[in-house]
Amino acid sequence: MKFFVDTADIDAIRELNDLGMVDGVTTNPSLILKSGRAIAEVTAEICAMVEGPVSAEVVAEKADDMIAEGRHLAKIAPNVCIKVPLTWDGLKACRVLSDEGHKLNVTLCFSPAQAILAAKAGATFISPFIGRLDDIHLDGMDLIADIREIYDNYGYETEILAASIRSVNHIVDAAKIGADVITAPPSVIKSMANHVLTDKGLAQFNADWAQTGQKIL
Ligand code: G3P
Repeated sequence: MKFFVDTADIDAIRELNDLGMVDGVTTNPSLILKSGRAIAEVTAEICAMVEGPVSAEVVAEKADDMIAEGRHLAKIAPNVCIKVPLTWDGLKACRVLSDEGHKLNVTLCFSPAQAILAAKAGATFISPFIGRLDDIHLDGMDLIADIREIYDNYGYETEILAASIRSVNHIVDAAKIGADVITAPPSVIKSMANHVLTDKGLAQFNADWAQTGQKIL
């Protein structure tokens, strides 16, 4: 499973990238706002640090404008992945930009039907949003499973990029289903290391070690 980091926070990306845990990065307009930086500048900085694809999202609503924005974003660095929304215009833009050789991440996917269209339009990645479906009392993980089944039925090469991940369980469940990629906030990725029994065991080891009176160094 590939790990993408869902943030435009350079320091947070660097910390995980230095551990070899970053296979790519996803951003969106909300994350650019949160970074407080210009999209071209922060995207260039992320692309220079990370080898894998870095998603930068268009904001236009008409296909021709999305295509123009996508071409512009792609000039920032060779590893920019153009992110377009799953609308009819977004699918048109996906087809054109994909045919030009760009990588495309089709985002805001909430149904298997949408995911089929994205694959047909040449998407490199499809981004089903787990957390936002859970928010409205649907099961986001069912969507991942449905897309996995459909893509496997037909050998679609579009990679399933599980997005809107809010918890460690989301990551583990997406991995069990066979999502190709997860994108998650750095805090969620780091919290995968936590376990109450690890903390408890460490406290016991430290207490016992203190009683030995020994030092390793
Ligand atoms: O990659 C999409 C993701 O950023 C959306 O996450 O938590 O805003 O639903 P969220």
